[in-house]
Amino acid sequence: MDNLIQKIESQYFKNGLYEDIITRLKDKNIDLNKVKRSDIASVDEFHVRGAAISRELAHSINKKGVSVLDVGCGLGGSCRMLADEYNCDTTGIDLSGEYIRTANKLSKLVNLSSKMTFIQGDATELPFENNSFDVAWTQHVQMNVPDKEKFYFEINRVLKPNGYFLFYEILKKEDRELTYPMPWSNKSNLSFVFREEEMHDILTGLGLTKVQCTDQTQAGIDFLNIVIRRFIEFGPPKMGLNILMGETAQSKLMNLLKHLKNGELELKSGIFKK
Ligand SMILES: C[S@@+](CC[C@H](N)C(=O)[O-])C[C@H]1O[C@@H](n2cnc3c(N)ncnc32)[C@H](O)[C@@H]1O
Repeated sequence: MDNLIQKIESQYFKNGLYEDIITRLKDKNIDLNKVKRSDIASVDEFHVRGAAISRELAHSINKKGVSVLDVGCGLGGSCRMLADEYNCDTTGIDLSGEYIRTANKLSKLVNLSSKMTFIQGDATELPFENNSFDVAWTQHVQMNVPDKEKFYFEINRVLKPNGYFLFYEILKKEDRELTYPMPWSNKSNLSFVFREEEMHDILTGLGLTKVQCTDQTQAGIDFLNIVIRRFIEFGPPKMGLNILMGETAQSKLMNLLKHLKNGELELKSGIFKK
């Protein structure tokens, strides 16, 4: 398992990530003393539809001033939105040391660090007491986690009674082979996509109740079509997810789009209540 963790960390590793983002902000003539969340929004949310879907998710429960855990928080963009727009006390945990370092520095850059904590750690062994958070939230993470039972068990364990679990996931729809690289895995060895019904069974088995589930596939396809068209027309954007996905960014996005369109994969968001 440790070997898998190391492989996932290196899948996402990008040396000097924060410094790269700073260089790009400078190239865009953005004053580093006045950086806004919107200046980094196209890079700090590593999921299809970026900041827009995170806002939709947050709006769907509309809870202000609550404690939120972001499981597999990446660069912490969602945490910053929840802290800034909903006055939430946010904690992000991620396997990647480089992402956690960057998340901390980006929060400082936009003057939001007092409202958030970022911790390097494994989602399947959360370093928190039982019943710690009002809301647990995860976006595009479980595809890297083979032990789904443990992943959701831990989320449920740290969630307070009556707390909400929100997800936004890439899920398997048909049992056909996927083409790699994908945004979360260069090869099939780090990819563990499963079906919505399986997730539903685990969550309800833990005692959680489904509040809603929304098919986000078409919205994701529309978004990816635009991103890829711009990519082909103008090349990699100065500030975009290509910074995280590297040289193969375009192939990763095109493979994901193909499988969403062909029906092997689907995008879903939802809410469960403890
Ligand atoms: C596609 S990124 C999504 C990041 C973030 N949720 C977002 O939407 O911006 C997947 C993230 O999951 C993290 N991850 C994968 N497996 C993990 C695990 N077992 N524990 C914690 N984080 C994990 C990766 O390090 C990576 O940051």
